[in-house]
Amino acid sequence: MSYRILIVDDEINSLKVLSAGLRSEQFNVETATTAQEGVSMFKEKHYDLIISDYKMPGMNGEKFLEKIKALSPETPFVLLTAYGTIELAVNAMRKGANTYLTKPVNLDHLETVVNDALVGRPKELDDETPGKHQFLNIIGKSQPMQEVFSLIRRVRKTDANILVLGESGTGKELAARAIHYSSLRAGHPFIPIDCTTIPAELMGSELFGYEKGAFTGAAERKLGLIEMAQGGTVFFDEIGDLDFALQKKLLRFLQEKEVRRLGSKEKIQLDVRVLSATNRDIEEEISNGNFRADLYYRLNVIKIRMPPLRERKEDILLIARHYLDHLCKKNKKAVCSFDPDVIATFQAYSWPGNVRELENMIERAFILCPYDRINLECLPQKIRSLTNGEPAGCDEFNLPEMERQIILKALDKCTWNQSQAAILLGISRKQLRTKMKNIGLLTSD
Ligand SMILES: Nc1ncnc2c1ncn2[C@@H]1O[C@H](COP(=O)(O)OP(=O)(O)OP(=O)(O)O)[C@@H](O)[C@H]1O
Ligand SMILES: [Mg+2]
Repeated sequence: MSYRILIVDDEINSLKVLSAGLRSEQFNVETATTAQEGVSMFKEKHYDLIISDYKMPGMNGEKFLEKIKALSPETPFVLLTAYGTIELAVNAMRKGANTYLTKPVNLDHLETVVNDALVGRPKELDDETPGKHQFLNIIGKSQPMQEVFSLIRRVRKTDANILVLGESGTGKELAARAIHYSSLRAGHPFIPIDCTTIPAELMGSELFGYEKGAFTGAAERKLGLIEMAQGGTVFFDEIGDLDFALQKKLLRFLQEKEVRRLGSKEKIQLDVRVLSATNRDIEEEISNGNFRADLYYRLNVIKIRMPPLRERKEDILLIARHYLDHLCKKNKKAVCSFDPDVIATFQAYSWPGNVRELENMIERAFILCPYDRINLECLPQKIRSLTNGEPAGCDEFNLPEMERQIILKALDKCTWNQSQAAILLGISRKQLRTKMKNIGLLTSD
């Protein structure tokens, strides 16, 4: 069964990239360049999910959302927004948008969000024994992951603050999303706040908002991200990077459950759950004086530790197969499997980048491998040499060669239409032409 998705954006390139990124056996994607057209398409056919840009000439994303919600309140709606207009989008979430994504959209993220919205709240979640090897989008059959699932099941419906720990790429954000989308707050906003990307001097007003005239340049009232999560969940990603001065303000919010916008005397009572994640050793940060111990104890009512992939070898093949299947379906390839050598190598490798590294490696192998079966030659040298049965004559993939292969594949896929290939590669046509010249596919003009 496939889901019908409608994407609305006035930028044609963005439409092309998003639909190419999502289109698969599972997702049947159609597009429109105006919200008006989107409304008529929706009235004519039913769609299971809508993705819409916020800023569009004519009807904007928020008005469009209102129309769709009036026609079909249950249809999931995902808003796309540029960094400067996040608060508009989050505001629109009050009117029923499921979530927002900032542009440029990370396609992996989009897919997770779409999966969450479409299949994230299946009925069997109320059953205490849902799919054994999967909890929402988190896959794992190993004992450590089963323990993570069981902990999530026990705490998801409480209001406990949860700190998710783990190395990079172990699925901390995935776990935070799974907690929110399987909690009673699932119908309310999930607001991720990346403490590493918002500049420290802006973080205070981003988190708590301000009143008109609170400082020079505060022309309008601005709601803070915490306030916008009302009823839902905020997720502080990389909490270890939160500015020391703001840690105190966050602690006060956690204690009092209220916020005060900058320049206002009024306190606003909030019902917001706080999840956070870090890959740092917070206890060490505390002893170095970089992190407040009192905040740590508040955030850390429950600790979930995402185990590194090397400590759950049973999951490697399960996740690898899942990811390969997904790529094969999406690209309509019939037979997709791994050579036994590859499986042995995967088991022997230590996966310092964890699941993200595994996913990237499979995607790379899928692009580079000319066969239906992924064999050792399609893996990077550093991992190929782990098993003794390395075939002779395998030349090392160097980066320029890999890039050449990827460009060739993309061009092939688009019957050498450069504009389309550039979209597929996520670069401009001009950049593509420069690269083609560099690798001798075009003569310099
Ligand atoms: N158990 C899992 N099953 C399926 N996919 C997973 C699993 N764990 C992680 N992933 C995928 O791996 C990638 C990294 O996951 P995620 O962003 O949640 O990790 P993270 O711990 O937040 O990493 P970082 O510390 O780098 O931010 C994502 O594409 C996610 O979908
Ligand atoms: Mg993360």
